[in-house]
Amino acid sequence: MQENFSLKPYNTFGVDAKAKYFTEINTVEALKEALSFSKDNGLSLLFLGGGSNILFTRDFDGLVIQLNLKGISLQPLDENEMLVTAKSGENWHELVMFCLDKNLGGLENLSLIPGNVGTSPMQNIGAYGTEIKDIFVRCTVLNLETLETEVFDLEKCRFGYRDSIFKQEGKGKYVILDVTFKLTTRNHRIKTEYGAIKTELEKSGIENPTIQEVSQAVISIRQSKLPDPKETGNAGSFFKNPTISLTQFEALHEQFQMMPGYPNNDTVKVPAGWLIEQCGWKGKQIGNVAAHKLQALVIVNATGNASGKEIFDFSTEIINSVKEKFGIELEREVNIM
Ligand code: EPU
Repeated sequence: MQENFSLKPYNTFGVDAKAKYFTEINTVEALKEALSFSKDNGLSLLFLGGGSNILFTRDFDGLVIQLNLKGISLQPLDENEMLVTAKSGENWHELVMFCLDKNLGGLENLSLIPGNVGTSPMQNIGAYGTEIKDIFVRCTVLNLETLETEVFDLEKCRFGYRDSIFKQEGKGKYVILDVTFKLTTRNHRIKTEYGAIKTELEKSGIENPTIQEVSQAVISIRQSKLPDPKETGNAGSFFKNPTISLTQFEALHEQFQMMPGYPNNDTVKVPAGWLIEQCGWKGKQIGNVAAHKLQALVIVNATGNASGKEIFDFSTEIINSVKEKFGIELEREVNIM
């Protein structure tokens, strides 16, 4: 148990907030001990995985538990499919690479997403046409009230766009211990429709890509426009892409003819990055904080010295200007502490 502990290395924004208490746990027993310490001392709790989707706007006056459970196991289902179970402390991208090395398909479009396995169900991580709900089977959780383990299947997780039960009524009630995915061992379902994947593959003259080649294309695209958190503090997309009504979209489209939108029934999802760029934020820096020069949806700790409050205030200014120009209210995707 550490006291007055700097969380700077434990959040990808690189914000120097302090935890009153901090502990890193490697076993479920250690987790239970930490929980009873917090109960005995009346401390509020915060669970950290890879720290890749959190913004600390102040010091945390309680116990931060860093979940470091490790291990990956495989269980063949039949000749076409394999169940892969990874403990929550496994690094996400390392899991993706491990599976690709074994020629297991399903995670390739999710290559290079920062963070750990245990937080992947919370916001149903997604990229390039895949979300984890597409390959998710179940996760094991510890119920913080009963201290019993429970199993959440696909339905019980109620996945939505960057959303799950763990961000809604289950918030703060469970710790995810492991996650099981169903992956293909052959006849892989290659998804290259989304975004720039096809163009990227064409550049290398690839027509019928393998899952490894799709992964490589995704990695190249991400590296070309998303800042590496090891070099520049960030938490990926700071806002969700807003969904508006078709009527509102049509009205806006008349005024802003270049406005992109992805229709779905009578709603349209609009890329927040475009809205933010149109308001003049792309590459703009105020103090220590900036909107990334290649992807305006990503807010960066430009100097490495930004406080969480500064980043939060910057995001509020973006929300206000998008609201003023387009009448659309952006919602933060990053968890604010
Ligand atoms: N765009 C702009 N200006 C910008 C950024 C984007 O005009 O500064 C336009 C692009 O030209 C494109 C559209 O917006 O037409 C969409 O951009 P992009 O393909 O980069 O994807 P995104 O919608 O901005 C989402 C996810 C990303 C994920 C990518 C690829 C959300 C909130 N973000 O971004 O996820 O990697 O698609 O699938 O849904 C994350 O959640 O942290 C994340 C990085």
